Amino acid sequence: MIAKAVIIVALVIAAGGLSFAVITALSFFLGGALFVTSTRPAVEAMLQLADLRPGDKVYDLGCGDGRLLVTAGRRCPIRATGVEISPIVLGLAWLRARMGGVPVRLIRGNVLKTDFSDADVVFCYLMPDLLARMDAGFQALKPGSRIVCHRFGLPGWSPGKIIVLPGRWLQDRVLLYRR
Ligand SMILES: C[S@@+](CC[C@H](N)C(=O)[O-])C[C@H]1O[C@@H](n2cnc3c(N)ncnc32)[C@H](O)[C@@H]1O
Repeated sequence: MIAKAVIIVALVIAAGGLSFAVITALSFFLGGALFVTSTRPAVEAMLQLADLRPGDKVYDLGCGDGRLLVTAGRRCPIRATGVEISPIVLGLAWLRARMGGVPVRLIRGNVLKTDFSDADVVFCYLMPDLLARMDAGFQALKPGSRIVCHRFGLPGWSPGKIIVLPGRWLQDRVLLYRR
C-alpha cells in the first residue's frame, strides 16, 4: 500500500517536472526567453510602479502564465492585453484569467511584431537583447506612458525609479521608465 502511494507521488512529481521542462524548452526555442514567472514581491513592486488607473490600456509583453495581468485586473478595472509566443504558456494564461474571472485579451504572437503603441502601461520581463530589438516599439508609445521592467532594463533608457528586491541568493529589481 505504502509502496503504491510512493510510486503514485513519484509519478506525479515526474509528470510535473516533465511538463515544466517541455513548457520551458518550447518557450525558449520559440521565443528565445525562458519561461520564468515574476515572483509575488516582483508582481507587487511592478504594480506599485505602474500606478494603474481605471481604463488604462495595459500590455504584458511576454505575458507568461498571465499572473501579472490577472493580479492587476483584480485590483483595478484596466484593459489588459497579454502577448505570448508559446501556445502552451498562453493556454496557462487563458486558464488563469478564466479562473480569476478577469477579462484579459490574449494574443499568440511575437512581441517584435506586435503593435502596442496605444498602451498606457507596458510590462516586460524579457532578456536585454530582445528589449533592445523592441526599441522602436517603445519609442512609438504615447508621451507619458509607463514601461515597467522586471530585472532587465531598457538598453539606452534611464529609469525614473528602481525598486530593489532582496532575494535569498540573488538581488532582484523592478524599473520604471516614462516615455
Ligand atoms: C521571463 S517570462 C515573464 C512572464 C511574465 N511576464 C511574468 O512576469 O511573470 C518571459 C515570457 O516571454 C515569452 N516570450 C519570449 N520571447 C517572446 C517573444 N518574442 N514574443 C512573445 N513572447 C515571448 C516567453 O515564452 C515567456 O513566457
